Amino acid sequence: MDSSSFSKAIVTLAILVMLSMGSSNAQLSIDFYSKSCPHLLSTVKPVVQSAINKEARMGASILRLFFHDCFVNGCDGSLLLDDTSSFTGEKNAAPNKNSARGFEVIDNIKSAVEKACPGVVSCADILAIAARDSTVILGGPEWDVKLGRRDARTASQAAANNSIPRPTSNLNQLISRFNALGLSTRDMVALSGSHTIGQARCTNFRARIYNETTIDSSLAQTRRSNCPRTSGSGDNNLAPLDLQTPTRFENNYYKNLINRRGLLHSDQQLFNGGSTDSIVSTYSSNENTFRSDFVAGMIKMGDIRPLTGSRGEIRNNCRRIN
Ligand code: HEM
Repeated sequence: MDSSSFSKAIVTLAILVMLSMGSSNAQLSIDFYSKSCPHLLSTVKPVVQSAINKEARMGASILRLFFHDCFVNGCDGSLLLDDTSSFTGEKNAAPNKNSARGFEVIDNIKSAVEKACPGVVSCADILAIAARDSTVILGGPEWDVKLGRRDARTASQAAANNSIPRPTSNLNQLISRFNALGLSTRDMVALSGSHTIGQARCTNFRARIYNETTIDSSLAQTRRSNCPRTSGSGDNNLAPLDLQTPTRFENNYYKNLINRRGLLHSDQQLFNGGSTDSIVSTYSSNENTFRSDFVAGMIKMGDIRPLTGSRGEIRNNCRRIN
């Protein structure tokens, strides 16, 4: 090869490397911080553990934050941004207002991570790790979290209102919300198994316990005692999504659905004579199938439209853009 074709080959190679870097940036990887923040995972977990030790529900709240982040323009930490006089974030969107919680825990994790590796790890990735840790600590399955997301410099209250599924949804609406983000019907049913932990407010299940016929009458009766019929009063009174074990991550949620004991209208839609009944039956009788499908769903959800490469930023404080 003469020297001019050699240098042409080098230039071509360099261009190919740059192009492939561009596309591999679009990919998350489990070892993304292995050099830049080698103790990341062991820095995050104890903070999650101590928050859950203080209040077991917190694990559920953190898992939900990740869902509400990912479903709104991708897993980019947009949910974590506070409103200011000149910035409207997502925290006051209908699905989050008086409901999304656990932001202080994310702040505490971020502080610990900043001490260990300043300016390196995104809030979006911290949320992904904390959601996994929460699941594991409450007894759920473990998986390797793909990392390399960067933080949004924007947020959208309108997108939060439109993208997060409502508890009044019917089965087709649930399926299409998930499908729109590349998640299958099976992913939707598996991820809904998150409702084996955590709590819901009366305002979100009132219509079901007073008006619906697809609910076990003794559950409806029990829930009415702390959720008054008239809206306005008791709106924020809580009830467990899984009546038996709201701080244990297992497959009870599906067993409840089969017994018409889903708390939310949207929960019971998964077992109401439609196309997902068979998936619910499978998960209720085979916990391992549920666990592995849940993991697959979480990984897919974590892949939704991340900001990578030079897009977005690594926020210094999860509540505000730099
Ligand atoms: C399928 C559509 C879904 C709908 C309609 C839905 C709706 C809801 C509603 C209304 C609540 C109660 C909020 C409140 O009353 O303040 C809730 C709680 C919760 N959701 Fe979902 N959700 C869905 C899917 C998911 C997914 C995919 C996850 C996680 C991967 C998830 C995790 C949770 C958790 C853990 C809680 C309890 C939070 C706590 O106790 O703080 N949900 N959900």
